[in-house]
Amino acid sequence: MSQTAIRKSDAAAQAPALGASPARRAKLRRLTLTDFRSYERTEIELDGRPVALAGANGAGKTNILEAISLIGPGRGVRTARLDELPRLDGPGGWAVAARLDDGEDERRFGVGVTTSKPDRRVCRIDDTAAAGPGAFSEHLRFLWLTPAQDRLFLEGAGERRRFLDRMALAHDPAHGKISSAFEQAMRQRQRLLDEGGRDDEWLCALEAQMAETGVAVAAGRRHIAAMLAAANVVSGETLFPTADVALQGDLEIALENRKAADVEEDYTAQLKCRRRLDTEAGRALLGPHRSDLLVYHRGKGRLARLCSTGEQKALLIGLVLANAQALAASAGNTPLILLLDEIAAHLDEERRAGLFSILDGLGFQAFMTGTDKSLFTAWGDRAQYFEACDSALHEATLS
Ligand SMILES: Nc1ncnc2c1ncn2[C@@H]1O[C@H](COP(=O)(O)OP(=O)(O)O)[C@@H](O)[C@H]1O
Ligand SMILES: [Mg+2]
Repeated sequence: MSQTAIRKSDAAAQAPALGASPARRAKLRRLTLTDFRSYERTEIELDGRPVALAGANGAGKTNILEAISLIGPGRGVRTARLDELPRLDGPGGWAVAARLDDGEDERRFGVGVTTSKPDRRVCRIDDTAAAGPGAFSEHLRFLWLTPAQDRLFLEGAGERRRFLDRMALAHDPAHGKISSAFEQAMRQRQRLLDEGGRDDEWLCALEAQMAETGVAVAAGRRHIAAMLAAANVVSGETLFPTADVALQGDLEIALENRKAADVEEDYTAQLKCRRRLDTEAGRALLGPHRSDLLVYHRGKGRLARLCSTGEQKALLIGLVLANAQALAASAGNTPLILLLDEIAAHLDEERRAGLFSILDGLGFQAFMTGTDKSLFTAWGDRAQYFEACDSALHEATLS
């Protein structure tokens, strides 16, 4: 049987292999949205089970996932701008609050903006102001898959880099800061080059900084690719196709058989040699900002880009689950949250049941949305179920 074959036996048999003592991890227990998107004020009590959320288009499901995702670094599942988040008929400010609880200790998180400073995100952990949303990563980590990622294999390399970097960020919160430091040094160097590039000392300093952070970004990506490969080996035959990944990028490839310090030195020297080229091009032509993530569908033996839409979706789910599994194994007790927006509708009954079993055993707190209750009935009492209607949530039962 090939790696991609659907196992006809009970998919629940997979769960133990994927599990990582789910009981140890704290869970989000309460979520409060105030003037956020379509929600005026909503409080949701979560009991720690995975959450299924059903409702018609426009009922307010993705808004809930987005609110949760904002208790993390970055701009959330929609990569929204701050000015898109306040409720349209509201006062201008918005807030999302959450309580994390492991049965003994609790943590309170808050994120939002005030009406007086709508362009400044305020973050709080317990009663203390946090420097920024990156601080949440110390307390919980996210993975997600949303319909916006459906075209990942067809779009430009930038989207795939972001996808890869987001996966790396879930493993290592520092990855985001290092990427930003690289981008900043690169922008400053380009500005100097555009202005004539006469300050050699300053250029050398920026290039050294680009090399240090750029090699660290590439190393972080290689780490995640290796984890995905290892997760594939462990899970072996699954309900979802196995994705083999390869990194395309000068630094990523150089790191394959050379020490990081040597790659860094080499990249610094290359940047210096290429000042003229980069000035003419208007951008740095070499570096991790040019890399790509190649994904292969192992069972089909071809690039994801050449697979059907359905195959691509299944492959993406497989990729996210492999990463979730790797993260569950490496993140210790850190609470993990998995947001799966409109995934259920793409799966047949057997794969859906298999996915529920995987999620039960994974150790993540999973949130899944779908347009119809019937998509989730096989989850039964193992999931907490809410119906969304006109941006109000009502708890009900699946069984
Ligand atoms: N800032 C906002 N203020 C008010 N309503 C919004 C805002 N942003 C989005 N909406 C609305 O929220 C509703 C629910 O959206 P969404 O959560 O994406 O629905 P779905 O259940 O299909 O995922 C939509 O009608 C959308 O237009
Ligand atoms: Mg939606």
